[in-house]
Amino acid sequence: MTTSTLATAVGGPALPQERRLVTSIPGPRSQALLARKADAVAAGVGHTAPISAVAAGGGVVVDADGNSLIDLGSGIAVTTVGNAHPKVVEAVQAQVAAFTHTCFMVSPYESYVAVAEALNRLIPGDHAKKSALFNSGAEAVENAVKIARKHTGRQAVVAFDHGYHGRTNLTMALTAKSMPYKSGFGPFAPEVYRAPLSYPYRDGLSGAEAAKRAISQIEKQIGADNLAAVIIEPIQGEGGFIVPADGFLPAIVDWCRSNGVVFIADEVQTGFGRTGAMFASEHFGIVPDLITTAKGIAAGLPLAAVTGRAEIMDASHAGGLGGTYGGNPIACAAALAAIDVFENDDLISRAREIGDLIKGRFTELQAGDARIGDVRGLGAMIAVEFVNAETGEPDAALTAAVAKAAIAQGVIVLTCGTYGNVIRFLPPLSIDDALLAEGLGVVADALAAA
Ligand SMILES: Cc1ncc(COP(=O)(O)O)c(C=O)c1O
Repeated sequence: MTTSTLATAVGGPALPQERRLVTSIPGPRSQALLARKADAVAAGVGHTAPISAVAAGGGVVVDADGNSLIDLGSGIAVTTVGNAHPKVVEAVQAQVAAFTHTCFMVSPYESYVAVAEALNRLIPGDHAKKSALFNSGAEAVENAVKIARKHTGRQAVVAFDHGYHGRTNLTMALTAKSMPYKSGFGPFAPEVYRAPLSYPYRDGLSGAEAAKRAISQIEKQIGADNLAAVIIEPIQGEGGFIVPADGFLPAIVDWCRSNGVVFIADEVQTGFGRTGAMFASEHFGIVPDLITTAKGIAAGLPLAAVTGRAEIMDASHAGGLGGTYGGNPIACAAALAAIDVFENDDLISRAREIGDLIKGRFTELQAGDARIGDVRGLGAMIAVEFVNAETGEPDAALTAAVAKAAIAQGVIVLTCGTYGNVIRFLPPLSIDDALLAEGLGVVADALAAA
């Protein structure tokens, strides 16, 4: 795919694919919105880029002052197919004009069933599968745990160090990091236990060793007989894009299978082409019992899903799963259009190309800059972990400074990591090579200047 075709074929043809700063960031109109936000919106709802967004497409976000920023975050891995992708816009417009809502639990409609069929086809494994649709990643995770408990008749759930699963009560309990996600919001849901992860850069363990450590802790502290589910992101997202060592995930899956424990892969962030496979589980050769998806599934419309083995998914009595808006017809129309783009526009290969560009750039820099401790990730989900050059300790201050400077120069980047010392790159797959290279250059300059 050439640069020019990407820019015109995908998302916002009226938006020039360029970084353009006509004011400082934030400009006056953005400042005015942020002042209103401070007055009207709860303080707990933060923001990364201090702008007032008015348009987005291809690889840019345009603000109310006329600045055009390079988008290396996709609204946290959501607009993977491109913001306002023409096929998605067309499908959404047609659906809005037909009907906006009936509630699938009241009057079912075809698009919900078609999304479930598509998920059942795309999710790894050739066993019989079923799906249920929800609104957000956290809601999908909550429901996956409900389903696993009902199926097994057991209560305990194991999540991992560095894991992130959402901001509802149960998903806060599953999430590892206190600030900002949990602090002061307890008490948390009971029967949630935490196991050590495989974090090759920091623990130096092989996948087998890390799995043995986790399994031994689970057996000693909980006991397989009490355990309904193990939930893990195949690549930790908010935790720092931690790719587990080879063999870690397969060993955990095998142990779950031998002990009647439901293995849930939380692919809310890693799913839908992001990692250069439709689902990250494929990279590790694992077939989860249940997979949660959201974010990239519907190109920005709120939709989430739990998909898995039919006999597990069918454990719940009728009426036990669902919700007023889950699988809303507009979101389903968007998802079907996005899935069509994933399957027909070879976006999976594009994710790999983008990942190679980002990894290549920072691996090159790493050779001459000891503050870059690790460059890791798969496909278009790449992270750089920053450390103190002398001690190797996480350097959150440097990370925040680099991200802030990049945003001020018109490049939207996100940070993450348990220690706050990771910059993560999640560009829309509709970004062109030149724009991506320019954005990475801005981040590299910010690092050089920091
Ligand atoms: C792995 C993972 N699970 C769950 C969630 C929660 O999703 P949502 O914010 O849609 O509730 C996220 C969000 O970042 C996530 O990355």
